[in-house]
Amino acid sequence: MTAENATPSQSRSRLTFTARNIRFEGGEHRYWYNGDPAVSAYFNALSALFPAGETFFCDSVRALRHEAKDPKLQAEIKEFLAQEAIHSREHHLYNKRISGFGYPMEKLEQRSADMQKIGYMLPKKLQLGLTVALEHYTTIISDCLIGVRDHLRESVAPKDYEFWIWHSIEETEHKSVAFDLLKSTTSPLGFYLIRVFSLFATTLSFNAILMWHIWTLLKVDGLQWNPKMWGRVLRYQWVFPGAWRVCAPAWFAWLKPGFHPWDHDNRELVAVWKAEHGETDTTTAA
Ligand SMILES: [Fe+2]
Ligand SMILES: [Fe+2]
Repeated sequence: MTAENATPSQSRSRLTFTARNIRFEGGEHRYWYNGDPAVSAYFNALSALFPAGETFFCDSVRALRHEAKDPKLQAEIKEFLAQEAIHSREHHLYNKRISGFGYPMEKLEQRSADMQKIGYMLPKKLQLGLTVALEHYTTIISDCLIGVRDHLRESVAPKDYEFWIWHSIEETEHKSVAFDLLKSTTSPLGFYLIRVFSLFATTLSFNAILMWHIWTLLKVDGLQWNPKMWGRVLRYQWVFPGAWRVCAPAWFAWLKPGFHPWDHDNRELVAVWKAEHGETDTTTAA
């Protein structure tokens, strides 16, 4: 077969990656983020979403993986499933440690799982659409977090830093896998409509449950009505590091019909992290 008539790969990933089966020990202090109850609650609320959320990601990808014909995409799906399963396990263990301070992390995990049940009622392609949109969310938040990693390093214990950055790096590595699977198994118009619908649906539901989780966590400390606490949460989200503000262009970029997660080429962030951790860089050429 010549290069001209070779079938193009269904994967447009710019990285090769494998899952890392690492055990973490973060979450050992009550206000582990710089002594700040509000920002600690923000991260803990995110963590409470992950076990059920990432199980849903895996289930939706597993349900349609047989439709991917490209061996490269199949190999990426295998690593995606492994990475997300380990993220889910480690966030559950982290949540258990946070529970030790009296926070109802088990209840929040259950609440997240109950919300996820609505997703499971949808057709399989729409389920994958929700995963693709939520992966976009985790990708752009991860990009912001890695971008301010020096600030994070100064604000938290080394164990917490390693935990959150590891997750962010792996989200970056596999950011196009669910996207490429849905794209390769759906008509162009169907693909566009599903992912735009999914982005709006997940933006509303993700932010609503995140804020609800934060409120519940602050309530344990009697801080749920404290405007200063909410000011700190909003400052963290919108001012500095301001992931919600920094991510706004990436959120809108999703609406472009030809959008692809690797249009934003941030392989360098992964390469730097790998070098810091003694891993050989297996970044592929564009
Ligand atoms: Fe993850
Ligand atoms: Fe992910």
